[in-house]
Amino acid sequence: MLFAVSRSIISLRAVFWSGYENKTKVHFGKGCAKEYLVSLLKGYGNNVLLAYGSGSVKKNGVYDEMMGYLNEAGKTVTDFSGIMSNPTYAKVQEGAALARENHIDLILAVGGGSVIDCCKIISAQAKTERDLWSMEFDCHTYPSEFIPMIAIVTASGTGAEMNNGAVITNEEKKIKAGMIGAQAEIAMIDPSYALSLPMKQVLSGAFDTLSHCMETYFGKPGSGNLSDEINESIMRMVIRNIRVLLNDAQNMEARSELAWASSMAENGILKIGKVTDFECHQMEHQLGAYTNCNHGAGLAVLHPVYYRHIYQSGLEKFDRFSEEVWGISQEGKTVEELALAGIEALADFIREIGLPTTLRELGVDEQTDLKAIADSCNCVPGAYKKMTHEEILEIFQECY
Ligand code: NZQ
Ligand code: ZN
Repeated sequence: MLFAVSRSIISLRAVFWSGYENKTKVHFGKGCAKEYLVSLLKGYGNNVLLAYGSGSVKKNGVYDEMMGYLNEAGKTVTDFSGIMSNPTYAKVQEGAALARENHIDLILAVGGGSVIDCCKIISAQAKTERDLWSMEFDCHTYPSEFIPMIAIVTASGTGAEMNNGAVITNEEKKIKAGMIGAQAEIAMIDPSYALSLPMKQVLSGAFDTLSHCMETYFGKPGSGNLSDEINESIMRMVIRNIRVLLNDAQNMEARSELAWASSMAENGILKIGKVTDFECHQMEHQLGAYTNCNHGAGLAVLHPVYYRHIYQSGLEKFDRFSEEVWGISQEGKTVEELALAGIEALADFIREIGLPTTLRELGVDEQTDLKAIADSCNCVPGAYKKMTHEEILEIFQECY
């Protein structure tokens, strides 16, 4: 998805792009909320929706900390809890109704990508009587009025805090898709909030960041652009810091680097001048719509198999990926062998860090209708090869 660069430029050539902006003011580092939040809150109206997930913020003290700041700023707080991983459209409606009833002036979204995404759409839905899903997907019109939002990031990986895209699951329609919603005016990224995050989620989040980088990197144009060179550096750094955390889970430097990489990968900068399709995400999202699987873990299963299907259409770029990201020498290898070596390095890395490598490991049971999932995926042009539903089904079957 291309969230931060205006839609009109998606189809333009890399030599011409315009309109990049990012509206989120970021405060980063341990103690940033303590330092800035109370004075920032004073710039908003009195009624605040404090939105969070299934309770981790109550266990790790972040909820009490936020309540302290809200009280100090003299706010009237409406509590909105229970935003689930892979947030549903029904949950959006619940939050929007609560926001309307309580004349909410500001949404404080405290959580990972799921909480932040759900709040982006609550923010828009609370301002319109129209059904936002149908407005966006049937009428292709997008919201322009929002309740302002501040994101307090407790889990990194999605980069949701710095864009206006929100991935929402419509359970009735069995579609998990990116919607356009509010973009947080302010994001507070304090990597110490994520110390309570289970390591499995730290890793799947970090892999999600790597996936965002790869999905952008393997878009067009394939070479000669600054976005890709910045991207290579982020990919190398994500891989390096994941390895640091595997040996030293508390390492704050590595956690901080990963948290900022997460924002950098999805704040639009890497997409400047690029046409992408995010096809692996399209597949994973539909897998999520049917199985509610973990996003980063689902991507880990799909990526290597998907790349084995498309690399021949982008050999040169896959060669570069092998050399620049994985440090593989081209010596003694054909162009094709070099490309495949990079994909195998990616697959080995996924095994090394203990993410699932098959759909079975991901918890997808045998009864799951892979064909229905494949048929429900978007096949988007943009990168090297446009998928067909038949090929997506082959990928799912190979992943099983
Ligand atoms: O429910 P809570 O209590 O918050 O627990 C969560 C959840 O169980 C827990 N958690 C979060 N912070 C914690 C913590 N547990 C302990 N300590 C903490 N500090 O972690 C679990 C996963 O959280 P979730 O927010 O679901 O994970 P993530 O940040 O990976 O977000 C996933 C969602 O974001 C979407 C995904 O599709 C998925 O729906 N994405 C959003 C994107 C965007 N807006 O730009 C792009 C991505 O590609 C992605 O699709
Ligand atoms: Zn993702």
